[in-house]
Amino acid sequence: MQITLVRPEAAHRQQALAFRQAFFDCGETVINGSELLDQTEDYAQWLDAVTRNTDPETVSPDWVVTDTFFAEDESGRIVGIIDLRHTLNGFLRDFGHCGYSVLPSARRQGYATEMLRQITEIARAAGMPSLQLSVERDNLPSVRTIIKNGGVYERSFAFGGEQADVYRIML
Ligand SMILES: CC(C)(COP(=O)(O)OP(=O)(O)OC[C@H]1O[C@@H](n2cnc3c(N)ncnc32)[C@H](O)[C@@H]1OP(=O)(O)O)[C@@H](O)C(=O)NCCC(=O)NCCS
Repeated sequence: MQITLVRPEAAHRQQALAFRQAFFDCGETVINGSELLDQTEDYAQWLDAVTRNTDPETVSPDWVVTDTFFAEDESGRIVGIIDLRHTLNGFLRDFGHCGYSVLPSARRQGYATEMLRQITEIARAAGMPSLQLSVERDNLPSVRTIIKNGGVYERSFAFGGEQADVYRIML
């Protein structure tokens, strides 16, 4: 199984919107790690925002420098999305550096585990000392993904009436 993390480009528009729609078709309205792709149909505007947010010079004043990647399989199909926030602001203090989602039809094939592994390499290369990740306690697939990548439980917080746990991966 091979996964390539690629930066979003204009050419991804059609595939990205189909990727987004696939979550909705399964009743999932939130796409974790998508930098709000779940909240807009305007791909060009989303692409402009995620591109500007990669650069300290152009990052939105209310956000932090963030890299967003599509995960492509061997055939170039988008099977996942993952973001890497280089620092934490007050809002992100609990939510951490990284979110990710895998296409509902492509789950349980190891994609998320490999996506997170590759993000740890990117974060290490960027000079980040550790990666903080948050997960709702009953989200077993995500907890497993984090632990398989070396995540160690750190603390808990309440989120929407649920218990969420913070893990840290030392880089
Ligand atoms: C969480 C998510 C990204 C996992 O993606 P994935 O590609 O299916 O994960 P992987 O195939 O790499 O599997 C990771 C681990 O979870 C386990 N797993 C995956 N789906 C599972 C399920 N439905 N029930 C139990 N375990 C599951 C896998 O078996 C594997 O653990 P193992 O190797 O110890 O057996 C995916 O379920 C998803 O997109 N969920 C919605 C978004 C989300 O919750 N994102 C994370 C927010 S913190």
